[in-house]
Amino acid sequence: MNLHKDELIRINQKHLWHPFTQMKQWMTEDPLFIERGEGNYLIDIEGKRYLDGVSSLWTNVHGHNKQEINDAITKQIGKISHSTMLGLANVPATELAKRLAEISPGKLNKIFYSDSGATAVEIGLKMAYQYWRQREKPVPSKTRFITLSGAYHGDTIGSVSLGGIDLFHKIFSHLLFETYSFPCPNFHGSDFSTPEECMNNSLKVFESVLRQHHSEIIGLFIEPYVQGAAGMIVYPKGFMKSLYSVCRKYEILFIVDEVATGFGRTGRMFACEEDDLEPDIMSVAKGLSGGYLPLAATITTDEIFDAFLGEYDEFKAFYHGHTFTGNPLACAAALASLDLFNKEMTIKNLGQKIELLDELLAPVKELTHVGDVRQKGFMVGIELAEVKSDRKRYAVKERMGHKVCMEARKHGVIIRPLGDVVILMPPLSITPEELRLLTNVVRDSIIEVCG
Ligand SMILES: Cc1ncc(COP(=O)(O)O)c(C=O)c1O
Repeated sequence: MNLHKDELIRINQKHLWHPFTQMKQWMTEDPLFIERGEGNYLIDIEGKRYLDGVSSLWTNVHGHNKQEINDAITKQIGKISHSTMLGLANVPATELAKRLAEISPGKLNKIFYSDSGATAVEIGLKMAYQYWRQREKPVPSKTRFITLSGAYHGDTIGSVSLGGIDLFHKIFSHLLFETYSFPCPNFHGSDFSTPEECMNNSLKVFESVLRQHHSEIIGLFIEPYVQGAAGMIVYPKGFMKSLYSVCRKYEILFIVDEVATGFGRTGRMFACEEDDLEPDIMSVAKGLSGGYLPLAATITTDEIFDAFLGEYDEFKAFYHGHTFTGNPLACAAALASLDLFNKEMTIKNLGQKIELLDELLAPVKELTHVGDVRQKGFMVGIELAEVKSDRKRYAVKERMGHKVCMEARKHGVIIRPLGDVVILMPPLSITPEELRLLTNVVRDSIIEVCG
């Protein structure tokens, strides 16, 4: 079926419900239909090329339509596209488990597959909860997680419960489970006089909650080093390390959500490598398959895994699974992506590109209507401000972030905001020239829209 654009628009408006989208608004806009991808570019049905400045929602690693990944998927299609992991095993999922265990931080060794970031988180929280009930010395009093304010872990009810963004949280409050929460060390807008004081307060609250309630607390669930959906809030140096040692001191689990940070985003394969942290559970998704197919994994230690072993009629198994768990096509794509990390020395080459991106962002920081630029590796948040001096935000209804992104689109760059924070999250394969194009278009678009 080769439909004309007007017909596609008609069908789209009649039948589609887009995620995180006010559909009333959507109906008034001219939707862009992406038909193809080539390297770091997306190509629409009219043949216009756009630099993919957010890696197709933070997923793409080595570029689109990459021969090696295409070949791996095609080869696997020639064998089988899906068979279940309930009662059967498959080859790519098995090979990938070995590779993931080899590269995962610390003692992480057992891989439980699913298909999205939210499911990887949901599995992590259920695994952690059940672990405390089934270990050799059970601690059934452990019923709550501790989480950071402003966190985002996905949109299933369990993941939303762990999250701390009111916009997504509030309306479902009756459906959510309770957590202990402590403040994100986000200095701006806080009452503290220095970022250190702000961080120390956060750590103080964390430790004091653990001191009082550790017997009830399952574990810390956290986006390591940077909160993505909160607007790229980068934690101060030392914060993660301190949290880790407090978790160890009070014997609660240290659970990291590397859905956004994993697979090179922060400049390391996993963000936790920065301080050699050894998580008990780690959730990954997005970049796992190179951003090609829906694939996620919840990775844990032998110690946690062992708590689920028992006789059949002890009912200690982890009663959780999704139909497409360990899908062979997605696992084949992931294996090809990991091969590319090695072959193209993706992580090694990233260091220079991260430095270049940092340099290129310097003039953006100076713009009259940019209140802050936050960067962690290849994760960037550019906060727009009506008044630069106190980072006063624009009125929500003005949708300045959206307008900047629409302006960039006119100049051949796809980006997507989080409110008034313009996000840059390019594929790791982006070239220095393309990084220049990306930052120039973003700078010019901000000037054009905000003045
Ligand atoms: C840290 C983090 N966790 C979980 C998720 C949810 O992932 P998914 O959209 O694949 O369910 C996201 C998505 O952006 C994320 O950034």
